[in-house]
Amino acid sequence: MTARVLVVDADPANCANWESLLLSQGCDVVAAHSGEAALAICPNLQPDLVLLNNFLPDIHGLEVCRRLKADPRNRLTPIVLVSPSNDAAFASSARAAGADDFWGLPTTPWEALSRVQSLLQLKTYIDEQAESVIYSLARSIEARDRFNGGHGARVSSNAVRFGKSLGLSQGDLETLKIGGLVHDIGKIVIPDAVLSKPGALDSEETAMVEQHPIIGEQICAPLKSFRHVLPLIRNHHERMNGTGYPDGLWGEQIPLTVRILQIVDISDALTSNRSYRQSLSLPRALMILYEEANRGWLDEALVSQYASLMVGAENSMILGSRGRLGSMDAANGVSNASIGSMSRRRV
Ligand SMILES: [Fe+2]
Repeated sequence: MTARVLVVDADPANCANWESLLLSQGCDVVAAHSGEAALAICPNLQPDLVLLNNFLPDIHGLEVCRRLKADPRNRLTPIVLVSPSNDAAFASSARAAGADDFWGLPTTPWEALSRVQSLLQLKTYIDEQAESVIYSLARSIEARDRFNGGHGARVSSNAVRFGKSLGLSQGDLETLKIGGLVHDIGKIVIPDAVLSKPGALDSEETAMVEQHPIIGEQICAPLKSFRHVLPLIRNHHERMNGTGYPDGLWGEQIPLTVRILQIVDISDALTSNRSYRQSLSLPRALMILYEEANRGWLDEALVSQYASLMVGAENSMILGSRGRLGSMDAANGVSNASIGSMSRRRV
C-alpha cells in the first residue's frame, strides 16, 4: 500500500519541497497550511506519517501534536515536529506533546528521506503487530464463552458468501470478512458472569452489554486498515426503524455492509447453542429473521435474499409468510414460540 504523508506547514514553498522529495519516493502527499486544517484532515486521512512544522499561523505545533495524539484514530500515526531550533528544551516539550520524533533544521534531503523511510517502516511494523493483537483479542473473547466458539469465523465466511451473492465489490467483501471476525471485540470489557449468564440480564448488565459496539470501535479506530470496518463494529446493533443502539440510525443510514452483517450475525447466533437457550434449526432461525424484518428491525429485502441463498427461493417464500404471520400474532397478543425465542436472543 502506498504510504501517505501529511505535511503541515504554513509556507507553500516548504510544502512544495517536501512534496517533490516524497513523491520521488512513491509517497502520496497531502498538505495542510494551518493547525486547524491539520486537525480536521488527519483523523479521516489516517496518514502513515505527519511532518508538522512547529510554527503555524493559528495554533502552536506542540498543541496541534497534543490534540492529534489525543484522538484515538491518530494514536498509531507517527508525528514528527519540525522546527528551526535544535533546542534541547523544545525537544523535551515535543516528546511531552506526544511527538514520535523532533527534527531541527536545516536537514539535508537525504537525511530527511532516510528518517522518513525509517519511520514508515516502523509504522508498517506497528500496524501489522496491532492487527495481529486485535485478531488474537477477538479469538480470546470467543474462547472465554464456551457457547460462542467459532462464531466470528462463521459470521465472517457467511457474510462474504452472502456479499458475493449480492455482487458486492472486493473492497466490501474484505470489509465483511474483517468485520465478521472482530465486530464483537468490545465484549472484552464485559465480565464472564454477564457474558455467559443463563437468565435475563438486569438493566445494569444490559447497559454494560450495549457499550460493546462503542468500546470495539475505540479499540480498532487507530488502525488504518480497519477504517472501513468501524461502522460494522459500531452499528451492528442498529435497527431499520431507528430503535437500535448506539446511534439510533434508521433505514439506509445503516450502511449496506452493516445490514448484511446483522442478518448473518443473528442467523448464526440463533442456530448456535447459547448459555440462555438451545440452538434453533435454520428454517426456524430464518422465520425469526422475517419476523424481525416485519417488526421494522432488519432490512426485509436483504432477509429475503439471505433466506433464498440458504434454503432456496421457494422455501424462503414459505418461511417468509410464516414469519410475517408470527409477527402479526405477536402484535395482536397471540403467543408464538418463535417470538419467545427471539426475545431470548443476545448477539
Ligand atoms: Fe454485538
